[in-house]
Amino acid sequence: MYLTLKEILKNTRKNKFAVGSFNIHCLEMVPSMIKAAKAKNSPIILQISPTTCKYIGAALLCNVVKELAKETAVNVTLHLDHTKDFLTIKDAIDNGFSSVMIDASALSLEENIKKTKEVVNYAKQHGVSVEAELGTIGGTEDGVALNDGKVRYTSPEDAVKFVKETGIDALAIGFGTSHGQWKSKAKLSFDVLKNIHDVIDIPLVLHGGTGVSEEDLKKCILGGISKVNIGTELNVAWVKDAKEHLEKADLADSCRDLVIPSNDAVQKVIENKIDILGSSNK
Ligand code: 13P
Repeated sequence: MYLTLKEILKNTRKNKFAVGSFNIHCLEMVPSMIKAAKAKNSPIILQISPTTCKYIGAALLCNVVKELAKETAVNVTLHLDHTKDFLTIKDAIDNGFSSVMIDASALSLEENIKKTKEVVNYAKQHGVSVEAELGTIGGTEDGVALNDGKVRYTSPEDAVKFVKETGIDALAIGFGTSHGQWKSKAKLSFDVLKNIHDVIDIPLVLHGGTGVSEEDLKKCILGGISKVNIGTELNVAWVKDAKEHLEKADLADSCRDLVIPSNDAVQKVIENKIDILGSSNK
């Protein structure tokens, strides 16, 4: 079934599991992502950056994802990742995305609330969920360096005000993770996570899942994380495999056969993450 973010995360907090939100890097990858969810009997969130979405096309992507969800009977949410401008978000909603993220976290609290509310008002009219961010997640997003590399932890007091005034469905928090951190491991503050979890009752989102160890991911879920974003690790798996196969390829080989092992590599990574996040049979 094709679900909103609110629907797919519904029982996560209560039942102490998280749903993986995996970045689509190219259209070829999409069927293998759904296959992983099907093999594990798990819900899955497919997310995409605005740049990749522009490259594939929002309408085409929505049609593919909806069709695959129907064919396979997997519960799927299609989510627009980190987006700063209203028009890109509006386009995704108008083309059938079931969830969007407005990221105005670089602005002041008041401005972040104002921009987020504008998106929530539009999304709610179309039955679409909204994720927003408070605090800072380090690294790069959509190829752009985010900040000076310093992580600003989310303040629980600000989070309470933000969630109350915006009416969002999920909150991305800063507690030590960074995007694209795949060569070293993240140092997390579980105290910050606990303090936010104690006062916020909507699903909490961990960004930068690639750099978080298996042990820490499990701790985060026990600490109240409902959605775990994983992007870089899938791209690395795909490219690593493509490199090996392309080096050995003959010009008479079918390009279709050349990408199959890369798609299988992505499927394997996702199946393993589903086991770690505990969303099998959920
Ligand atoms: P990674 O690329 O570090 O896994 O982060 C993905 C992410 O959080 C996308 O929003």
